[in-house]
Amino acid sequence: MQGTAKAHSNIALIKYWGKRNEKLILPANNSLSMTLDQYYTTTTVSFDPYLETDQFLFNDNQANEKERARVSRFLDQIRSLTKTNYHATVTSINSVPTAAGLASSASGFAALAAAASKALDLDLDKRTLSRLARLGSGSACRSIYGGFVEWQKGNRNDGMDSYAAPVAPSEHWNLAMVIACVDITRKNVSSREGMNASVRTSPFYQGWLTTVEQDLIKAKRAVLARDFEKLGSIVESNALKMHAVALGANPPIIYWQEPTLSVIEKVQALRKAGVPAYFTIDAGPNVAVLCEQQNVPVVHETLLEVPDVMNLKICYPGPDIA
Ligand code: PMV
Repeated sequence: MQGTAKAHSNIALIKYWGKRNEKLILPANNSLSMTLDQYYTTTTVSFDPYLETDQFLFNDNQANEKERARVSRFLDQIRSLTKTNYHATVTSINSVPTAAGLASSASGFAALAAAASKALDLDLDKRTLSRLARLGSGSACRSIYGGFVEWQKGNRNDGMDSYAAPVAPSEHWNLAMVIACVDITRKNVSSREGMNASVRTSPFYQGWLTTVEQDLIKAKRAVLARDFEKLGSIVESNALKMHAVALGANPPIIYWQEPTLSVIEKVQALRKAGVPAYFTIDAGPNVAVLCEQQNVPVVHETLLEVPDVMNLKICYPGPDIA
């Protein structure tokens, strides 16, 4: 009753921001992501009739109670699909320290869903696995596939049509994302809280909904045509719109820190100097800079100049879950 899985994280090119159903984690809009080769989680789940509670070891340490409870609630959903009521030991290792806070819930819940279903011999297809991972963390449903992935929001109330589907495999385009981790010591508003507050209180949320669909269509087309500048400009503007929605919430949500803006300025300076590079930012201060493979050295060099960037990681499209 043991299973292991490795899932790669993903960064959204067109963001998921806002839910139409909180409990089933059904999004208000489709989203598009790139799976990352360098960020992944490897998880082993062992169900054990002698355990009295679920255990969660994360990067060789006991996870805190909040994290353990979240994992346990997710396992409850898997247990409810089967006849087992055994508890489990979950051991997860992240390829990068989680303090960097980079999309680790996406790879984390995708790996957990796959490892737990292997441990229970469920033999789920990728679509079912994607739906299951979604219940742990929305963005996790996209981490089932490598390359470029779309999460279809679906329309049904039961969520059966809300899952990810591949747009293009990793070999399609060796697009690079240089990820700049900035200071992460300050406490953040989680993406869950941030998007809920945006839906409830931001006057800009309607504007988000009326433009995101077109953004996604254009971005998908640009991925398929490998049109870098078209993709980059849509990705950047989509991320800025998401942050504008959050800034408009009441109370306002500001995810950026000083170095975030410094990285943005560097990216703009790169473009002025003739190097096509574009940024995207999730619900936090870190910046992912998109560029073509031949420009990775100059982008990397330039970002190294930004004070308070703690770590730069060069990522390319990663593989499917295994
Ligand atoms: O799936 P969550 O709850 O981690 O939310 C992800 C939200 C963003 O990262 C900001 C956007 C996205 O589509 O990944």
